[in-house]
Amino acid sequence: MKKNFLFITVCILSAFLFLLQLNCSPKKTMSNDELIARGKYLVNFGGCNDCHSPKLMTPMGPAVDTTKLLSGYPASQPVLPIDSGLITPGKWVLTNDESLIWAGPWGISFSANITSDSSTGIGAWTLDNFISTMRTGKHLGNGRMILPPMPWDGVGKLTDDDLKAMFTYLQTVPAINNRVPNPVPPNMITGSSKKK
Ligand code: HEC
Repeated sequence: MKKNFLFITVCILSAFLFLLQLNCSPKKTMSNDELIARGKYLVNFGGCNDCHSPKLMTPMGPAVDTTKLLSGYPASQPVLPIDSGLITPGKWVLTNDESLIWAGPWGISFSANITSDSSTGIGAWTLDNFISTMRTGKHLGNGRMILPPMPWDGVGKLTDDDLKAMFTYLQTVPAINNRVPNPVPPNMITGSSKKK
């Protein structure tokens, strides 16, 4: 009787360990469609559209213009005058009604075009370019520092698999040719009121 009980316990335990091992076995690699779906999910949740997509103003506030998804600050849009006295440390950070241009103590940054356009977006980037940009906070991993408020530090904490999914989806976002202006350093900001 005791022996039987021991035998059953050993059986249950081995079955349990077997199932546990099945569960821990390496995940199957995702198909391209699965990567795109996961990437779209992460991009939507990650707020990328909030800062990178042009908006249409509605009675409920700005809504993403789905015809210009992730194309960044429109190159044709003139930069409104900025009161440089307001953006010194401890004061304001300014943005426009589309959250595509940002002025603060770092100067003016323009939300990038992250569509699949190969000359003005990230269509010519490799997955490695994308991952190293997000992990280092430097353009392509070795260029200039990426300016606020791009949350590269948080995005860069995603796993390689999630960054791969994000990049795979971004490469399917329709290409929009829009060359976003270069950042403006703080001392080059011309505004209505100069520092006293
Ligand atoms: C709070 C606003 C904000 C959010 C949210 C945001 N970005 Fe950005 N992003 C920016 C700005 C502004 C820049 C331009 C920074 C610069 O010129 O240095 C930028 C730049 C980039 C670049 C270009 C970097 C380079 O080296 O050229 C990529 C790629 C990028 N963002 C991807 C993303 C992705 C993917 C998400 C969502 C997970 C995201 N961003 C969310 C504001 C944001």
